[in-house]
Amino acid sequence: MKNNTLDNTTNLVELADDQVSVISVDTTKNEPTTEPQRQYYFIEKTKELIQKQRKDLGRPLTFCVCNFGCQMNARDSERLRGILINIGYVQTEDELSADFVIFNTCTVRENANDRVYGRLGQLKPTKRANPNKIIGICGCMTQDVNVLNLLKKSYGFLDLVMGTHNNHKLAELLYTRLITNAPVIDIWEESETIVEDLPSERKYPYKAGVNITFGCNNFCSYCIVPYVRGRERSRDPQDILREVRELAEDGVVEVTLLGQNVNSYGSDKKDYPTFSQLLEEIEKIDKIKRIRFMTSHPKDLSDELIEVMRKSEKICKHLHLPVQAGSSRILELMNRYYSKEDYLLLVDKIRVAVPDLSLTTDIIVGFPGETEEDFEETLDLMRKVRFDTAFTFIFSVRNGTPAATMENQIPEKIAKERFNRLLKELHEISKEVTGKLTGSVCEVLVESINEQEDFLVTGRMSNNTLVHFPGGEELIGRLVDVKLTQSKGFYYLGEIEKK
Ligand code: SAH
Ligand code: SF4
Ligand code: F3S
Repeated sequence: MKNNTLDNTTNLVELADDQVSVISVDTTKNEPTTEPQRQYYFIEKTKELIQKQRKDLGRPLTFCVCNFGCQMNARDSERLRGILINIGYVQTEDELSADFVIFNTCTVRENANDRVYGRLGQLKPTKRANPNKIIGICGCMTQDVNVLNLLKKSYGFLDLVMGTHNNHKLAELLYTRLITNAPVIDIWEESETIVEDLPSERKYPYKAGVNITFGCNNFCSYCIVPYVRGRERSRDPQDILREVRELAEDGVVEVTLLGQNVNSYGSDKKDYPTFSQLLEEIEKIDKIKRIRFMTSHPKDLSDELIEVMRKSEKICKHLHLPVQAGSSRILELMNRYYSKEDYLLLVDKIRVAVPDLSLTTDIIVGFPGETEEDFEETLDLMRKVRFDTAFTFIFSVRNGTPAATMENQIPEKIAKERFNRLLKELHEISKEVTGKLTGSVCEVLVESINEQEDFLVTGRMSNNTLVHFPGGEELIGRLVDVKLTQSKGFYYLGEIEKK
């Protein structure tokens, strides 16, 4: 494991060495060396500093964690929020006025980066109005050395830059920033350890994401995730089960197991259960009523898992199974390890076992070398599978990945034109597919008051489709039977089924 030494701690602006490393901070002489105790120590130390600032200013200090990207990042952000609340900051949604802002970034496509640069730019002038404001950035973008160099060059107002492998260290790095009054950067190239038991501020009381693996070993040729998140590490099953039990005791009824490829859970450890076995253990936890997971890689989706899904009473009737492309030639270039035929067979097998399953996917258009015929194969696969919905992306060059330097990069105009054709067909298909449950009664987990109409509540069916129906706040977090009266394409309108 790489740890907190000077050689992997770079600094944003030119600083004396002793201003950079946490190790050189005098007041931390007695800090514990093991985690998470060390971070709790720094939470306390930082709390003292924040309390003093609070007294001087005569008001509480606020924080804002801005999350970008996937559910894994969202889960990390919950931990960042937990740490900051423990330090004594008060949460705000307004990044411009917050005393501490941190962007937890995504870099899966270039437009994810662009979004962050745009928002960072807006933050710069806010430092003038609030000289004590601290601006931080973490997450996947910061693991890319080119991004890091750009941040150093053009975003010198950043106070704290931290990577994906050490985001448990937020309190420690923030403390360093506060006492040195100098920018801190700490990026680790990799890490084998998983730090458990950090504070966490969950977004929803009734549903929660639970990490089961970190990182990815698949190296799909277009994808930057393995480079910025490191090798796949499965979390100890006992830690997972303990967390799910605690969540259940805390009122959570739905858990989503998270990993870049949940199907390969346990394969990096000799005595860990398989993903299917883990699911069976979670199923036994009484108060958990719904289990979701994402993402499933088709190459690792086992018969054992299909059987567990078939038998389960709690696993939701929804499978997100990214196909990426319909042409076997392109799939090979993508390093996906399955063909179009393999995927179609797999879908058949799953649908026989779980007939009412909703199937969603991810599709990339404009991968290098994609011909019109290849693209037609994607359309054909889509028509054959009839996905409930799909997330569609135009191929984005990620420096350092094999696809970035492949021949025959597709001109933007062609990629966009294909993308629009794909979307049009997809909308038509998903409208028909989603509508098929009209008239039936489905169990819905109520999530919130409807954003547009406050006499309606919004909930999710087991198959992940949204339903809006008349109801009040008291229903939030409850599972209710709802009659689906009308399909609106991607969602339903309904009414509570009277028993
Ligand atoms: N681990 C998941 C997905 C992670 S990224 C899986 O394997 O399915 C989410 C989605 O972003 C991917 O499924 C892919 O469709 C898309 N994606 C990843 N890299 C991309 C790139 N370079 N350009 C366009 N889309 C990309
Ligand atoms: Fe990226 Fe492929 Fe890993 Fe998914 S499985 S995160 S697409 S490398
Ligand atoms: Fe984005 Fe990182 Fe997730 S690149 S998709 S936030 S793992």
